[in-house]
Amino acid sequence: MTDIFDDVRDHYRATGLTERLKTALMALGSEDQRLTPEQLGALDQFHTRGLAATAELAKLAGISADMSVLDVGSGVGGPARFLAATYGCRVTGVDLSEPFVDAARYLTERTGLTGQVSFQTASALELPFDDGRFDVALLQHVAMNISDRARLYRETRRVLKSGGRFATFDVVSNGDEPLYPVPWARTPATSFLMTAAATREAIEQAGFRTLTWQDDTEAAKSWITQLRASGPPPSPNLGVVMGPDFAQLSANLGQNFLESRIGVLTAVFEAL
Ligand SMILES: C[S@@+](CC[C@H](N)C(=O)[O-])C[C@H]1O[C@@H](n2cnc3c(N)ncnc32)[C@H](O)[C@@H]1O
Repeated sequence: MTDIFDDVRDHYRATGLTERLKTALMALGSEDQRLTPEQLGALDQFHTRGLAATAELAKLAGISADMSVLDVGSGVGGPARFLAATYGCRVTGVDLSEPFVDAARYLTERTGLTGQVSFQTASALELPFDDGRFDVALLQHVAMNISDRARLYRETRRVLKSGGRFATFDVVSNGDEPLYPVPWARTPATSFLMTAAATREAIEQAGFRTLTWQDDTEAAKSWITQLRASGPPPSPNLGVVMGPDFAQLSANLGQNFLESRIGVLTAVFEAL
């Protein structure tokens, strides 16, 4: 592994995360009380527009109960749990951050989904799976931490069956440098944004055909405007995961969207 991965791991280090989650979740009930993906939505959907964006992407990907789904860069596991609870499919998440994987396992126990959802610590550039293992792969707000996009998309293609679907929802560059820190990088050293057009080219070159292509930047801007109008987020929220500077990271994300420094892309591809 290269140094850049150590820097990305540092950004998502989240020391003592599972213990902090246990404490924060007391607000939602006792340890033996089963939680729903909706109750955890403010805390475990680590991307623009939260649970609503995961629900839309899953619909576009055409997920059904008999499918085996891979969530690449699964964070603390909110999208994986939502897919399993909503569609009855099996979901495997992989993430570079060990504290996030521990937290994802803990939250999955709390939602009673351990039989359907599992997590492993691994790099998206070296997926620990055989070729053609999955029907669908999801990638939400992860590619911006990865410089070697050709390898990322080739690995994703490798583990998908032919005819399988790759659904991505990621931040893209609009040409201007974003203001830092942002939720995925506290400095430019761990941020590797590409334009939407370059992203599409890299994905198609890895062996995919485009099925759906949507610029969701306006939806992101409306979401930011609503968040600003509605005051502090519900508790517990992603601040528990990312620490006390999360309010600043989010504020910069909003400003970057509103100043059109960045955009957001939703796309679904078929594996050729
Ligand atoms: C902004 S979070 C998104 C998490 C999740 N996809 C979600 O939407 O809730 C980005 C995640 O990507 C993971 N990540 C970044 N680079 C990675 C890599 N090379 N391999 C695996 N995971 C990676 C981070 O550890 C982090 O959990």
